[in-house]
Amino acid sequence: MIPVGDETTQDGGEPMAIVTGAARGLGFHLADELACHGFRTVCVVRNPSDAVRLRELGHLVRPVVGDVTDVAVGRSVARNVGGGAVGLLIHNAGVGHPPRRLRELGVDDVLDSFVTHCLGPLRLTQALLPALRRSPCATVVHVSSRWGSFAAAAEDDGPGGKHYAYRIGKAAQNMMSLCLRQELAGLGIRVVAVHPGALRTAMGAPDAQDAPSTAAADLVRLLLTDPREGLPPFTARAGDPHPW
Ligand SMILES: NC(=O)c1ccc[n+]([C@@H]2O[C@H](COP(=O)([O-])OP(=O)(O)OC[C@H]3O[C@@H](n4cnc5c(N)ncnc54)[C@H](OP(=O)(O)O)[C@@H]3O)[C@@H](O)[C@H]2O)c1
Repeated sequence: MIPVGDETTQDGGEPMAIVTGAARGLGFHLADELACHGFRTVCVVRNPSDAVRLRELGHLVRPVVGDVTDVAVGRSVARNVGGGAVGLLIHNAGVGHPPRRLRELGVDDVLDSFVTHCLGPLRLTQALLPALRRSPCATVVHVSSRWGSFAAAAEDDGPGGKHYAYRIGKAAQNMMSLCLRQELAGLGIRVVAVHPGALRTAMGAPDAQDAPSTAAADLVRLLLTDPREGLPPFTARAGDPHPW
């Protein structure tokens, strides 16, 4: 079943997707994968040079230069969507801050993580709500992390510095995702948080095993084939429920 196939854009009638943080890593491969599946894909990148590279993925990929922490990004993306319907909104942009002990912790790192993973995506979803509502069955995806899970984090109870900023930002993103899921279900909009796996990207751990291209292919397959009722609120990329 393809849950996002009926809506059209003002361009050529293709279904429309939005991916943030598409300059590299998982986001870049999500953009590529979605374009291969025929989605007109609006990609948010911070640097104009990355926009040039994304255009090489083909005519369905439309880069927008913007920063998800900037309130103006919602307007820029909405302008690119025009009167079209957004079937998939993937909040993928993420930042990793190194582990810190409390005495070394910079509050700015925590704030940056919170705004990047939670507040920015929340504002962008708000700005795109009319376009999501124009789709008969839209999905909002928060690319979260196992480190946003209280259950997973509680297992890591050793001494030493902790990823305060990343964990707090991702936990906030998970709670935001759950609130949105509960509210937007009434509008027919599905909202999920996804742990994509340990990926070999700039942010990934040194022992990460999975290629971001594989994760992107799995995730797009999951989103396009899973029956709408069947996707857990917090899911691993294969579709298994992830503990909160
Ligand atoms: N890698 C893993 O093992 C892993 C595990 C669990 C979850 N995740 C999550 O997966 C997502 C993708 O991460 P990745 O592994 O692909 O990392 P990555 O290679 O470091 O890519 C992160 C992307 O996010 C973009 N970005 C960061 N802040 C942004 C902002 N304020 N506005 C717009 N774009 C911004 C970066 O843009 P620039 O190029 O401009 O910096 C980059 O394109 C993240 O949300 C991450 O938390 C990753």
